[in-house]
Amino acid sequence: MSTSPHPVLPASGVLPASGPRVAYATCLGIEDVEMFPVLAAFARAGVHAEAAVWNDPDVDWGDFDLVLIRSVWDYILQRDEFLGWARRTAALTRVANPVPVLERNTDKTYLRDLAEAGVPIVPTAWVAPGEELTGADWPELVVKPTVSSGARDTLRTTDREEALAHVAALTAAGRTAMVQPYLPMVEDEGETSLLYLGGEFSHAVRRGPMLGGGFRDVVRDPADDQLALAERILAAVPERAELFYARVDLVRLPDGSPVLIELELTEPRLFLDLRPDGPEALAAATVRLLAGDGNTRPQPDVSRA
Ligand SMILES: Nc1ncnc2c1ncn2[C@@H]1O[C@H](COP(=O)(O)OP(=O)(O)O)[C@@H](O)[C@H]1O
Ligand SMILES: [Mg+2]
Repeated sequence: MSTSPHPVLPASGVLPASGPRVAYATCLGIEDVEMFPVLAAFARAGVHAEAAVWNDPDVDWGDFDLVLIRSVWDYILQRDEFLGWARRTAALTRVANPVPVLERNTDKTYLRDLAEAGVPIVPTAWVAPGEELTGADWPELVVKPTVSSGARDTLRTTDREEALAHVAALTAAGRTAMVQPYLPMVEDEGETSLLYLGGEFSHAVRRGPMLGGGFRDVVRDPADDQLALAERILAAVPERAELFYARVDLVRLPDGSPVLIELELTEPRLFLDLRPDGPEALAAATVRLLAGDGNTRPQPDVSRA
């Protein structure tokens, strides 16, 4: 790590004047603990990287060789605006992950498509606006909207009436609701997130539960069945070869089998703090990507030296 008092700046206190230019796309009003360490790692790798707010009208996105989608977490309140911005930006420069991935991945109905492609997911009843919940006879329920992050608007309850009321509130607002059994294993084994950088497995994390008392997120070795399932899930993504970063979130059903709870291809926290050289690994993968040696579509002449 830099010994500079301000971690954004490299030791020299000057951002690299030449070399590729990367925009780290973020949003206002949030705390992204990964941003400063990543910007510092980029600077040390000779990359001029700047944080830029995705809906800031004054940013000239075409001025960058790459727009790295990162902590754009407020998109869930304005998904259409976000995707419109991503499309316009992709006409100017390279965006990672690519826009078709963002379009698909920002609505959890992608889980239904993956299930149809044979991926095991958490059992889910889908309720679109105008529909009613049927089935879902589980003793404890989780109700969540298909466009969400950070467990926003997510309810855990043993009271079916309360679950039905939450489904009704979501669908009345034009949102699609997902109803799942509550999986208590999130409180002991915990959810496992497998992180991929530059298209390759990087590390895995044991995640604390978000709908009840928890424990801290810590690094963990994934079990063989989890790693195998994560690879299978990524292979089912049509744009697999173009995924720059990915997070595969797995839980287990009561019978012990691993299933997908969420595939984060848009704005996952990458838990780079839980891998010793995490920010450096992301910077190195970005340099490879920009050199045309990454896993996504190569582009000529990114050097501005
Ligand atoms: N069916 C479930 N059983 C147990 N916990 C759940 C369930 N669904 C969600 N959660 C908890 O809520 C968190 C957020 O849900 P998730 O589906 O990952 O959506 P998002 O992260 O996009 O808000 C999960 O990380 C988990 O802790
Ligand atoms: Mg999640």
